[in-house]
Amino acid sequence: MRTQVAIIGAGPAGLLLGRLLDLAGIANVIVERQTPEHVAGRIRAGVLEPGSVSVLEAAGVGARLAREGLVHDGVEIAFDADRLRIDFQDLAGGATTVYGQTEVTHDLMDARAASGSQSFYGAANVVLDGFDDTGPTVRFSQDGQAHGLQCDFIAGCDGYHGPSRASVPAGAIRHYERAYSLGWLGILVDQPPVSEELIYASHERGFALCSMRSPTRSRYYIQVQAGERVEDWSDEAFYDELRHRLPADAAAALQTGPSIEKSIAQLRSFVCEPLRFGRLFLVGDAAHIVPPTGAKGLNLAIRDAAELAAGLAAHYESGSDARLDGYSDRALHRIWAAERFSWWMTMLLHRFPDADSFARKIQRADFEQLLRSPDAQRLLASNYIGAFE
Ligand code: APR
Ligand code: PHB
Repeated sequence: MRTQVAIIGAGPAGLLLGRLLDLAGIANVIVERQTPEHVAGRIRAGVLEPGSVSVLEAAGVGARLAREGLVHDGVEIAFDADRLRIDFQDLAGGATTVYGQTEVTHDLMDARAASGSQSFYGAANVVLDGFDDTGPTVRFSQDGQAHGLQCDFIAGCDGYHGPSRASVPAGAIRHYERAYSLGWLGILVDQPPVSEELIYASHERGFALCSMRSPTRSRYYIQVQAGERVEDWSDEAFYDELRHRLPADAAAALQTGPSIEKSIAQLRSFVCEPLRFGRLFLVGDAAHIVPPTGAKGLNLAIRDAAELAAGLAAHYESGSDARLDGYSDRALHRIWAAERFSWWMTMLLHRFPDADSFARKIQRADFEQLLRSPDAQRLLASNYIGAFE
């Protein structure tokens, strides 16, 4: 088989890249380890920056997003007994849109099905070769049958654990990493959210977040220690702990019900550099991970895919490689801005097991600066909506 761009992974990065390449008339094939049902069923992030919404609109998958997405003009931060509302419109001239990654994935899968571009789901033993010269290939098997895909470029959109980054010789890549020894235990429940906007809460007992997917579906998180197991948390225990950590009015407004999803995600910051190795490009979680506190993971994946698609379009349309050559530097600039913001939000709002009384005082001072300084609020708002790069 031959194609122009082989895309490994059908997460938001791979599906969006495929969609943008389809629109540019560039042949592409997606190779994904999981089944379509598995990919479509994953519950992940849910907050889109205005820039991400624009990319999805330009990709022709903005219609349901415009109908069903919830536009949020601000968020609330609760720190012990204090509350602060960050008004995105006033402070940074924009808004976020709450629309689940699950829905973004659905819309992109539907668009791909309509385009007729080929996808191999359930692909095993994916091996990348030849990307250091002019003959890149992707080999894999599906239902026991071996396949080989020759291409001009490989896009590694295969997440943190995928084979793309692992195929790069160790001496050619540098890793930057921070582990936080914390996890987020999240549940999804068919009950109305406690409030119209998200609430990020920093409490003595640990961090909590009230988010949502729709006016009737809520997404809640509480910080847990590394190594805690989801089986050890009943819904009742989760709601009890959440109530403890929320401001009294939010705790009183909490409507509970059986969880329809419950999972733990470990917090990690990770970046590799560069993002290009000959004819292989790394995109999305394959290249970087942020802790979820700043809601940046999905947005970075979307922006990486858009940037790479623009570079590939210029390559095929005009023969100019300037944009493609600039992909790694341009994306890394945005990635590090998001890494800094996500790290900062994480450090501000969580309770760290090894933190001493000095560390809590510094967190308090950081929050008080936010409370009092419109400049600090502006910086938070512009980072949150992705206006600061
Ligand atoms: N072969 C083929 N596909 C693979 C392989 C493999 N060996 N390993 C992983 N994959 C697939 C995964 O099954 C997944 O569908 O690559 C895809 C990667 O998708 P994501 O993990 O969703 O990563 P990305 O598309 O970069 O999206 C980033 O997802 O994880 C969240 O918070 C993150 O919101 C961010 C977004
Ligand atoms: C979510 O709704 O899943 C969500 C929202 C905000 C975050 C992280 C996750 O910072």
